[in-house]
Amino acid sequence: MTKNWTPQSWRGKPIKQVPFYPDAQALADVESRLRSYPPLVFAGEARKLTRQLGEVADGRAFLLQGGDCAESFAEHGADNIRDFFRVFLQMAVVLTFGASQPVVKVGRIAGQFAKPRSSDVEIKDGVELPAYRGDIINGIDFEAASRIPDPNRQDMAYRQSAATLNLLRAFAQGGYANLENVHQWMLGFVGNSPQGERYEALAKRISETMDFMRSIGITSESNARLRETDFYTSHEALLLGYEEALTRVDSTSGDWYGTSGHMIWIGDRTRQPDHAHVEYCRGIKNPLGLKCGPSLDPDGLLKLIDLLNPENEPGRLTLIARFGYDKVSDHLPKLIRAVQKEGRKVVWSCDPMHGNTITANGYKTRPFDRILKEVETFFAVHRGEGSYPGGIHIEMTGKNVTECTGGARAISAEDLSDRYHTHCDPRLNADQALELAFLVAELLKKERDAQPQKKVVNG
Ligand code: PEP
Ligand code: CO
Repeated sequence: MTKNWTPQSWRGKPIKQVPFYPDAQALADVESRLRSYPPLVFAGEARKLTRQLGEVADGRAFLLQGGDCAESFAEHGADNIRDFFRVFLQMAVVLTFGASQPVVKVGRIAGQFAKPRSSDVEIKDGVELPAYRGDIINGIDFEAASRIPDPNRQDMAYRQSAATLNLLRAFAQGGYANLENVHQWMLGFVGNSPQGERYEALAKRISETMDFMRSIGITSESNARLRETDFYTSHEALLLGYEEALTRVDSTSGDWYGTSGHMIWIGDRTRQPDHAHVEYCRGIKNPLGLKCGPSLDPDGLLKLIDLLNPENEPGRLTLIARFGYDKVSDHLPKLIRAVQKEGRKVVWSCDPMHGNTITANGYKTRPFDRILKEVETFFAVHRGEGSYPGGIHIEMTGKNVTECTGGARAISAEDLSDRYHTHCDPRLNADQALELAFLVAELLKKERDAQPQKKVVNG
């Protein structure tokens, strides 16, 4: 058990990005209700994810983590979840094929509601209101009443997470993820794009392989690995009262687990070692992510690793690098060297989204070529340092949105207004997500060809 830690010990620390709830009693009531609700995930699942991430840390698997920047109450529906899941599965198949190794699938979903903001206020036409902080905290409408933090939103977020997770579990285990369906995961609007054709060609090869296996008696009915997949949930652990209320002791190990999602991460704005977010996360046993932006230096990183993974357990800690396409090669090598020098076992993942946000035509956007460039540079830096580029972390949707510019359909700054739906940051649409997956698959293939001695282990 972690020293001097309780699920509420974060309350004695300084904290950033915290909402002010005017009705303290209503907040306490909601938190106490949440404490009585069933857990959303189980300790055994979180442990299994840690083990699979341990394979990633050792270079034998790849992490695909992605989903919405911010989930919303208004867009909660089966179609959205299904469309996200099918693109995610397509990406995973492309990556598995490219890398010839297992892909660990972690969604930013079923709990990704709270948002850190660069400014506490938003100003529009001379009117200043508190910033929107995610549907779990306040409303997105630019009206004074909706910007007041409302604790009952935590209850809504819990219930939406439970319903989303229920459908995802059914998709992952109930037949939708069966590899026999590899053609059906294609979304209509992707079908007639260059990525669609590329995907169809790959799906055809997989179907042929399945036909061959069936002819020798290996079928999806007889083999769960063809029929089912492991899919995990993750979100930023920002709203600590909510996280605390869902923190439970695992009866088999006696350890504390956050049960709001399988993996949680600490954002780039809340990773101060002596502050509340690090304090909360260090005491739970779930696999953790840590966003690493340009202000993190090697000593700061080692200090955080000491706090978050003192036992140096592979899979416990994923470092999510988010520097910006033009800053990765300045910042990443020194962090990798520090980690290697101290013999720390971590997963290195690349978030090519959060360092590449610009404004164009009045919209927050991300140029697709910069996203690709950040991923390519991330791989090149790892190659140079002799370390393993273990994953990607992206904001994406299954919908045909126009939020990031570029990609095979060349979305321009003028196109952004067509279908700009995000509640927070611009996401890759299905086409762009698939295009990125093909690029990463090629990079992984190169990586594998450069290290022929590495054994493939099923995980
Ligand atoms: C995010 O992942 O949505 C986010 C806010 O990231 P970061 O903490 O890296 O800015
Ligand atoms: Co974001």
